Amino acid sequence: MIGSSEIAQRVKIIASEINREYESKNPLFIGVLNGAFLFMADLFKEVSISCEIGFIRVSSYNGLQSSGAVKNVIGLSENLSGRHVIVVEDIVDTGETALFLLEEIRKQNPATLKLATLLFKPASVKKNIKPDYIGFEIEPAFVVGYGLDYDGQGRNLNDIYVLNET
Ligand code: IMP
Repeated sequence: MIGSSEIAQRVKIIASEINREYESKNPLFIGVLNGAFLFMADLFKEVSISCEIGFIRVSSYNGLQSSGAVKNVIGLSENLSGRHVIVVEDIVDTGETALFLLEEIRKQNPATLKLATLLFKPASVKKNIKPDYIGFEIEPAFVVGYGLDYDGQGRNLNDIYVLNET
């Protein structure tokens, strides 16, 4: 669906927007494991301003369908007050995970809070959520590669593929 060079180009564009918007703000990037690890690494390498990084994990998703029930967030720092936080997701599907995370982080009064996602499925979104930085808007197919998995497999693929469900 999306090749590695196209991904790299898009990541550079998002990073340059962040470099411009967050200069002197020392933003804190919070990556959502496991899916966002490659996107986060590539994005972070293209960010040239002072910045910090952290990772969290949310448990809720099995197989092909979002369960809709976001259970808990692991590893969230308690020092987010006054920080400029950018949450980095692999994909926003129903929007359940991202909305839950943004609400949890907002409780700590960050100075600003934005959401960056590599992939966005606008037709699948059930929540009132619009990511601030979007790599690619895609159709509501199940995709794997570049960090995204199907039951643990496919994260190591360099390109993004639509899963053949048959
Ligand atoms: P949401 O809460 O429904 O927006 O789902 C978010 C999470 O579901 C993502 O962080 C992924 O882990 C997973 N997910 C949603 N769609 C896909 C997909 O097409 N491929 C792989 N994982 C997906």
